[in-house]
Amino acid sequence: MSLHAPVPPSSGVGDVDARCRWLAQRFDAVRSRSAALAAPISAEDAMVQSMEDASPSKWHLAHTTWFFERFVLADGGPYTPFDPAWDYLFNSYYQSAGPMHARPQRGVLSRPTLAQVSDYRDAIETRMRARLQRGDLDTRLLDIVELGLQHEQQHQELLLTDIKHAFFSNPLHPAYRDDLPHAGGSTAALSWIARQESIFKVGHAAWPGDAGFAYDNESPRHRVLVPAHALASRPVSNAEFLAFIEDGGYRTAGAWLSAGWDAVRARGWTRPLYWNEACEAEFTLGGWRALDPQAPVCHLSYYEANAFARWAGARLPTEFEWEQAAASLPVDGNFVDSGRLHPSAPANASTGLQQMFGDVWEWTSSAYTAYPGYRPWPGTLGEYNGKFMDAQWVLRGGSCATSADHVRASYRNFFPSDARWQFAGLRLAKDSA
Ligand SMILES: [Fe+2]
Repeated sequence: MSLHAPVPPSSGVGDVDARCRWLAQRFDAVRSRSAALAAPISAEDAMVQSMEDASPSKWHLAHTTWFFERFVLADGGPYTPFDPAWDYLFNSYYQSAGPMHARPQRGVLSRPTLAQVSDYRDAIETRMRARLQRGDLDTRLLDIVELGLQHEQQHQELLLTDIKHAFFSNPLHPAYRDDLPHAGGSTAALSWIARQESIFKVGHAAWPGDAGFAYDNESPRHRVLVPAHALASRPVSNAEFLAFIEDGGYRTAGAWLSAGWDAVRARGWTRPLYWNEACEAEFTLGGWRALDPQAPVCHLSYYEANAFARWAGARLPTEFEWEQAAASLPVDGNFVDSGRLHPSAPANASTGLQQMFGDVWEWTSSAYTAYPGYRPWPGTLGEYNGKFMDAQWVLRGGSCATSADHVRASYRNFFPSDARWQFAGLRLAKDSA
């Protein structure tokens, strides 16, 4: 089953039976991908929590299943949970759904075992398929199924970034997979693409609606004045970031935000998270590899991205500059679907805007805040996005660990200033002269 299903029957309109069939197919495809991504991970690997920000693979597999059980199957009439004690274990942050196990303590969950979590997944899948086939889910619940699949795709990316951090934290540095395909392309010289001042409509029509899925944080669509500026044709490469390091970038305070410089000194940062000390190799999901100078630099914090941009005499783009440039482009790039699981230089270098989608999430200079008129989704799922609009930055475009059918030009990812373990890089922008 391809994840590239046709445009879905829209929520709230059209043929409910067709939407059930489409969601049933998509349910199988997304759930299968989670299982495939988890396949190389042993039971021992699956319970490692290498830092508070990361979760064990086993927890991701269970939590995404809990989402369907708690918000779809247990909604409404009498329901016998798979295990009543697990509601506490696998609730992430939904305060209105009840108490939860502390996030930093997810690594202590040696029980349930990985095999039990696998049985849980199978059981809930069977129940979900039965409900979708019976066609007794109303429009509201079908919407939650669709959201649950988008949610699981987010956790698929986290499963990869978290297991990468876990394996990097292990002195043996095991590879997640030994058979990942390499892709070495060539990068064109960076060029600047001038963009005139304009009023642009950013965001996405509210979902549920007839315009397809989008998170609540992408709406309302609204007009924004985007001043004249120039956008770099491609993300910053490893070679360019190495020049920053060799120029003393991590040793001089000048380019850094105050808190960023504090982080550099307190944490001993001297290079991107997964580079070796000689800056000649980087740890990947395929193990250690020679650093490809042409590939986009990744695993940078906002602080590092911002410092590089200032050192380079440029700045990060705003999220609106980014979205305006991406809005007319196909959602095409090096996503998880390519199977490479690492950013790479493009196969065909050109001078237009490149790699806007895929490879690396691009830090923007925009704080993650509500759009004018923002309303969180009603009920418990209103906790999904809105309550995190605090001290985080927006990233755009998806990465080599994102599913191609999960991202779009209006998609707003968000992380705090010091987060380094995501596939995050940057694209430069500058004001017009
Ligand atoms: Fe979640």
